[in-house]
Amino acid sequence: MKQIQEITSAKSQGHKLSMVTCYDYSFAKIVAASNIDIVLVGDSAAMVIHGYKNTIPANIDLMESHVAAVSRGINNKFLVADMPFLEHRKSKKKTMTSIDRLMKAGANAVKIEGGKNHTDIIKYIVDSGVPVMGHLGLTPQSVHSLGGWKIQGRTEENAKQLFDDAENLEKAGVFAIVLEMIPADLSKKITENLKIPTIGIGAGPDTSGQVLVLQDILGMNKDFNPTFVRKYLEGFSLMQNSLDKFNEEVKTGNFPSSKESF
Ligand code: KIV
Repeated sequence: MKQIQEITSAKSQGHKLSMVTCYDYSFAKIVAASNIDIVLVGDSAAMVIHGYKNTIPANIDLMESHVAAVSRGINNKFLVADMPFLEHRKSKKKTMTSIDRLMKAGANAVKIEGGKNHTDIIKYIVDSGVPVMGHLGLTPQSVHSLGGWKIQGRTEENAKQLFDDAENLEKAGVFAIVLEMIPADLSKKITENLKIPTIGIGAGPDTSGQVLVLQDILGMNKDFNPTFVRKYLEGFSLMQNSLDKFNEEVKTGNFPSSKESF
């Protein structure tokens, strides 16, 4: 297992960090066998697994169940769980109860979207002994106030806000920050200004690490081809072809053979 200290010191040692999302037990077994550093049970589960249009429908029950499934298969890799929509904006008691559920389900840390206005609760969570990962830039839970899935930090004012937010999150005690969909030169500036690592998605090459959604890496959604994703497998067509082959062999009587029968 990568301990949190190895994650935070990776930056000073010049080691890049890799993080992927994971939502279930069978993929967790594959991620566990890989050299990936950090596993994120993202609230993107709402979209990738449950087919919602955005991450807002993810709630604590849904997240807890995915974290538990992943933790059963992930074999001690460092597991970060997303705090779902508004969960850290409820009462302190409710927030801490939800964190308790995610940690008891097997998370090693939680990720919280947003910067300004959240630093007090983040500091409280960190002081309670729970590692927190920040998330700035295109924060999907705020998709409606951001006016859609748009690159952030393009105006001078917004870039300064993100720069200050990153600094304030570091002061509040987060151990790393995800930077999503911001210009590469801004994420470089933010990364150089922080001691803690940044992990980018659509944020250029100069962050301390990179994160992608597992199903995107594996090319499982043939209709989702954003600029920042690199597909390492044509998963959709490979899987569809396998299903078609199975279908064909069932229809022709080729499956099962005598070896596959009792
Ligand atoms: O939920 C998620 O998948 C994420 C990553 C895109 C960073 O937050």
